Amino acid sequence: MDAIVFEKEDGILWAKLNRPEALNAINEDVVAGLEKLVEKVREERDVRVVIIIGTGKAFCAGADIKMFLRSDTFTAREIIERLGKALEGFEDLDAPIIAAVNGFALGGGCEMAMACDLIIASEKAFFGQPEINIGIIPGAGGTQRLARLIGWKKAMELCLTGDRISAQEAEKLGLVNKVVKDDELEEEVRKIAKIIAEKSPTAVTLVKQAVNRGFKMGLKDGIAYERDLFALSFSSEDAREGMTAFVEKRKPEFRKTR
Ligand code: CAA
Repeated sequence: MDAIVFEKEDGILWAKLNRPEALNAINEDVVAGLEKLVEKVREERDVRVVIIIGTGKAFCAGADIKMFLRSDTFTAREIIERLGKALEGFEDLDAPIIAAVNGFALGGGCEMAMACDLIIASEKAFFGQPEINIGIIPGAGGTQRLARLIGWKKAMELCLTGDRISAQEAEKLGLVNKVVKDDELEEEVRKIAKIIAEKSPTAVTLVKQAVNRGFKMGLKDGIAYERDLFALSFSSEDAREGMTAFVEKRKPEFRKTR
């Protein structure tokens, strides 16, 4: 059985974490699956939006602790480095990634969700960085992305206490875009993915780059970067089509592939 199962549905690629017996904990097969996901989206230009979801009751309960117990420091570091690079790869991809958080998103699972562009959560989901409870610390961006997303002190609290927060609390903190009913999660996420997939693929990619890369810059540099990407979007065929369609009062017909 593959640790991540891929299914294509029009321009949407579903990546289903498939280790329900271990709450989709991240072992080497899952890391390899995440690397494959990044490679796949780079190569398959018809993929417009990616959705990551867990099978069973968890999105992902973090790194596989049983695997860690068998690993020495160097092996553990190597696995974490591969995981971290795959997650950085998410941010660099042209296509947006939506985390459909169907249950526990803990440790590496929370880190995976945070590396996605949007997080839509089931009302039953929980988030947290519980590594401290087992004597380690987050290693795939937990202390870093969390502080940038929800603020320094709240991130410090979650990483120091290992406490889990509900989807509702995560939404209040700005970690989650939207909380939906558990049995409506897939449909809600599909709806959002379809809305994005109908836009100009060039504009979608440039928005993603402007927000993600600009976020790491100072405001002045970020705005200058945005202006350059605006000019790039302006020179695309889709921009001509979008503006012409507006004037002609019709729906634009944007390119179908990235
Ligand atoms: N690694 C390996 N196996 C895991 C796992 C993990 N992270 N999380 C759950 N499992 C396994 C359990 O061992 C159990 O397997 P068995 O039936 O063979 O015993 C199975 O999944 C079901 O789990 P539980 O019986 O514990 O389910 P629960 O509903 O009672 O509790 C839970 C759910 C609160 C998520 C609990 O499983 C838990 O606390 N898991 C560990 C969470 C954690 O500490 N994550 C951080 C890992 S380290 C990390 O992620 C570092 C990093 O930065 C990448």
